Amino acid sequence: KLMKVFITRRIPQEGMKILSAAGVRCEVSQWDSDEPVPRAELLKGIQGAHGLLCLLSDKVDAEVLEAAGPNLKVISTLSVGFDHLAIDEIKKRGIRVGYTPDVLTDATAELTVALLLATARRLPEGVEEVKNGGWSSWKPLWLCGYGLSGSTVGIIGLGRIGMAIAQRLMPFGVKRLLYSGRTAKPHAAEVNGEFVPLDTLVSESDFIVVSCSLTPETQGMCDKSFFSKMKPTAVFINTSRGAVVNQEHLYEALSSGQIAAAGLDVTTPEPLPTNHRLLTLKNCVVLPHIGSATYSTRGVMSALAARNLLGGLQGTDMPSELTL
Ligand code: GLV
Ligand code: GLV
Repeated sequence: KLMKVFITRRIPQEGMKILSAAGVRCEVSQWDSDEPVPRAELLKGIQGAHGLLCLLSDKVDAEVLEAAGPNLKVISTLSVGFDHLAIDEIKKRGIRVGYTPDVLTDATAELTVALLLATARRLPEGVEEVKNGGWSSWKPLWLCGYGLSGSTVGIIGLGRIGMAIAQRLMPFGVKRLLYSGRTAKPHAAEVNGEFVPLDTLVSESDFIVVSCSLTPETQGMCDKSFFSKMKPTAVFINTSRGAVVNQEHLYEALSSGQIAAAGLDVTTPEPLPTNHRLLTLKNCVVLPHIGSATYSTRGVMSALAARNLLGGLQGTDMPSELTL
């Protein structure tokens, strides 16, 4: 039987090769661009499809599922996050979901450490000063920031990625590692992690790293009250999802000096408009959602997404199936 597949973007060739070499007869149509598929094209492209390979920028809701029709068996997302998928609607229809955990853990943890150091040590500001002539001499009080040695780090969400971040930060001489979340994690012992209430983490940490998934509970969690409990010398880092943060409240906290600095790899919306006021702040470093962006990681992600898709089409095991 011929299986119809819709792919919402150009993806690394590793995944495309797996699809074309597969024993299943696939008729693949693809939005063959590096830019997002327009909604109307997605609704058209998915008609009658058995499988969808999508990205975190594609909102897959009831309208998309209705447009697909009853053939749709599997949705494979090229991401570890799945807050862009309407899970209840998907489950109701008996559709399986594949995602890409594990393979992007190291890359995302590395990027988080890079962003933390860049923000705390003010690297983007320094680079800018060298270019614009602001570097007039070595100055004892100039471009000082905050160091990890002897510090307290708080990780919100000690899952796979949070744990990998903790493992990378500990060798910098971190004194205490706090974490919060729904439950205490046995694996936290490996990094001497102390499970504490969120309020304790927020008020005692010198560095706060958000590494939890976006859920109704975590949406808008980092708000006015959260920032008001932070130390004025503390640095806030978010590499999970933008909507965990109330950006208006973050702007107020950064511009009033209530907190020292923020590094964000994720925002709402994405892309962040170039005239957004967060971008006017020197103490805010914003990256364009590049946590998993190494050549090899994106290649492995695309291969995994392709295998998940094929498993779903054939009704066999998927290497990384989301439990719905
Ligand atoms: C990236 O944010 C992902 O969910 O893979
Ligand atoms: C800095 O370059 C120093 O020598 O202290």
